[in-house]
Order: sequence, then structure tokens, then C-alpha cells
Amino acid sequence: MNRIFSGIQPTGNLHLGNYLGAVRNWVDLQHDYECIYCVVDLHAITVWQDPAELRDSTREVTAALIAAGIDPEKNIIFNQSQNPDHAQLAWIFNCVARLGWLNRMTQFKEKAGKHRENASVGLYAYPNLMAADILAYKGTHVPVGEDQKQHLELCRDIAQKFNNDFAVDFFPITEPLILGEATRVMSLRDGSAKMSKSDPSDYSRINFTDGPDEIALKIRKARTDPEPLPSEAAGFEGRPEAANLVGIYAALSGQALDAALAEVGGRQFSEFKKMLSDVCVGVLGPIGTEMRRLVAEPHHIDAILHRGAERARAISRPILDEVMDIVGFVHPLDD
Ligand code: AMP
Ligand code: TRP
Repeated sequence: MNRIFSGIQPTGNLHLGNYLGAVRNWVDLQHDYECIYCVVDLHAITVWQDPAELRDSTREVTAALIAAGIDPEKNIIFNQSQNPDHAQLAWIFNCVARLGWLNRMTQFKEKAGKHRENASVGLYAYPNLMAADILAYKGTHVPVGEDQKQHLELCRDIAQKFNNDFAVDFFPITEPLILGEATRVMSLRDGSAKMSKSDPSDYSRINFTDGPDEIALKIRKARTDPEPLPSEAAGFEGRPEAANLVGIYAALSGQALDAALAEVGGRQFSEFKKMLSDVCVGVLGPIGTEMRRLVAEPHHIDAILHRGAERARAISRPILDEVMDIVGFVHPLDD
């Protein structure tokens, strides 16, 4: 059986990169699969989070997922800390994964920067927790943006080593699902940097909560070059900003890149930016409005998360019981 699992951190504003790389695909997948979507608050605290802001962000991200079209009845939506099985399995995976594997993780290197000695132990062990998130449900497919590929390879390595070490065929070898025309959305200010929540410039990203005027202004200010748009992908050579904006346009207007290029090739940026703003406002506008409505009812959101966590745990607990048994822990299932 296929089981979809994915996670998103409740840190700051969701942006267009999260939408095109992840959330939009999550919405599509719900029609065909059993899906579990997790707001990963345990991952968020690997770097400092103000407690009140963390609570607000958790509710906001949940509201965004629902506003984007994920049905919380059909799917399971919950926050990670409400199911203790993630942390428990992560500890076991801390003892399966090797230091050498984690040392290769580029996200840790980027996030820890020059102050490696000052980074939390949690930030270092982050990918083990991510593997536990997925494998606590025996997740088979994980829809994510391009930047999570390396972490998912580690998840496969952990599953494989666990299965080998204990001579079992227990955990699945999870497949990443990196879907669509914009799997790595770049900053609007710099075509070589990923669009990210942590970029100090708000002009670098389009947030779920931006209104039509803000979206139009950010796109107008987006960095470009003086040439008209190319008609073929080969024309993006040395033009990362053009490639990024057309990729976003293709993804938002539901076209393959070639079709989008056929439509916009030869146009000036000024004209193209207007088309891009319109399609962006058309997609994100209604999501932002619905999100604001949902956030105004935090009790409703909390109830969804709580119920989601109960449903999640009903799946993970029997799997964890088996893991306890395989590892050799004395536990209630022992005969
Ligand atoms: P995060 O905000 O880091 O929790 O990421 C949540 C999801 O959004 C993950 O699946 C990421 O791969 C995806 N994502 C984040 N930033 C981008 C981006 N700039 N382009 C495409 N996908 C992204
Ligand atoms: N590390 C992911 C990110 O930053 C979030 C995440 C945590 C995740 N656990 C996961 C994604 C499990 C997919 C599956 O984007």
C-alpha cells in the first residue's frame, strides 16, 4: 500500500516556494492516496523559536494547508509534538545513522554556517528525526521540494541499515516525489539563492499572506536582465532570474515549461511581469483570504490538530511496538 507523508516547519510565513515545491502537490495527491501531513514543530526548535510565535505559526501553517485545499477529514493533519512516537523512533535512528552520513548533509552546513560549534545537537540530528517522521508510518512516498532530496536519501539509508542490522524486511525504502515545473523556486532578488523564509529581505519572496498590491509590487521589483524572454529553455543559459520567473509562471498557470515559453517567448519583462502578477494573485489571493478567516478561529484549528494527532498515533503506535520488539526492548507485547 502506498502511504504519503510530508512535513513543513512552522517557522514564519509560508511562501511561493513552499506552495509550488510542496503544498500544491500535497493537495493533488489527496485524491489518490492516504496522506499524512505534519507541521513539524520539533524540527522548528532545532533553532531558537519564541514560544508564543511558535504557537501562532503552528496554527497559521495549519490554516494555510487547509486554505490551500487539503481536506483535514480525508487526510491527517497534525503537529509533530502531539505524537510522541516521532521522538521515540528518532532516538533509535540516532543509534542507526552514522556520524559520517550526517556530516555530509548540506542543509546542516548551510544552517550552522561558521558557528558549527554553537549549533544545537538537534540541528545536527535533524535528518534522523525526519526519517522517523516518515518511517513511524511506513511512509512510501514523500512529496517535497528539491532541497529535501539529500535528507530523503538519508532516510532510505537508515531504513536499509535498520533492516540489515536486525535481519528484517520491516521499513520501506521511501521514494521522494519531486513534482511540477518549479521544484526549486529561487529568490526574486537573486536567481542563485533559494526562496526562503529566512531571507532578511521580504522582497525576495511572495508570502501566502501578501495581498494583490504587495504581490504586484514584489514582482515589479524582481530582478531581471535587459533581454526579451527566450522561446526555448536553452535561452535561459546565464539567465537564472528569467528561468526562475518563467518556471513560476508555468507552474502557476498549470502548463509545461515548453508551453509557457511558447506563450511568453519574445516578450519584454515589463509585459511578462504583468501576466505573472495576475496569475499569482489569482492563485494565492483566495488562499490568503481563507487563511485569515481560519486563523481567526484558533480553537477550531487546535481541534483539527488534536484529532489529527490521535489518528496519526493510531497508525504509528502498532509500528513502534513492532520496532521495540525487533530492537529487543522488553515491552507489553512480549510473550
Ligand atoms: P520548509 O519551509 O523548509 O519546512 O519546507 C517545506 C516544504 O517546502 C519542503 O518540501 C521544501 O522542499 C519546500 N520548499 C521550501 N522552499 C522551497 C523553494 N524555494 N522551492 C521549492 N520548494 C521549497
Ligand atoms: N525537513 C523538511 C523541510 O525543511 C520538513 C520535514 C520534516 C519533512 N519532516 C519531514 C518533510 C518528513 C518530509 C517528510 O522542508
